[in-house]
Amino acid sequence: MNLVRQKVNSVLEMYENPKSNMKAVLEDIQMTFGCLPKAALHELANQTNIALVRIHSFIDSSNGFVLEEDIKQAVEICNCPSCRMSGGREIREGLDYILLVDALKNGGNGKAFYTKVHNNPEAPCAKPPTALVNGHRYCDLTLSGLLEIIGMGNSTADEN
Ligand code: FES
Repeated sequence: MNLVRQKVNSVLEMYENPKSNMKAVLEDIQMTFGCLPKAALHELANQTNIALVRIHSFIDSSNGFVLEEDIKQAVEICNCPSCRMSGGREIREGLDYILLVDALKNGGNGKAFYTKVHNNPEAPCAKPPTALVNGHRYCDLTLSGLLEIIGMGNSTADEN
């Protein structure tokens, strides 16, 4: 089973009747992927027998959903053991928290982010932790450094 199918399955398993809980299902899918990827929406349509066009019209008529194609910043944090042990995991958790707070407070403030972990094929390198931002690799990262790179330098993990 591919990863997207597996994750959509896990969300659907939480609902007895996904059709009548479409908003919550989509929110959980967005929480899982950081946005609504095309592949996940196709999977959702297949598994629930809801036409994809109906899912899209639901999304269009609701607030707070971010489609994959609307993403302006893609952040991929390296998940190799060296990066994880050098603070990569804390950076990802901190970033996810800050983006969630931003989305809740400002509806994402017009920015759309997609975050995930990946494994740098060149790992281990000399300067962990690393991340790709829009395809460009940054090394020796800190959370505040990453926030500067993505234009959120004023955000802190202590915001409430
Ligand atoms: S050690 Fe993970 S990318 Fe360098």
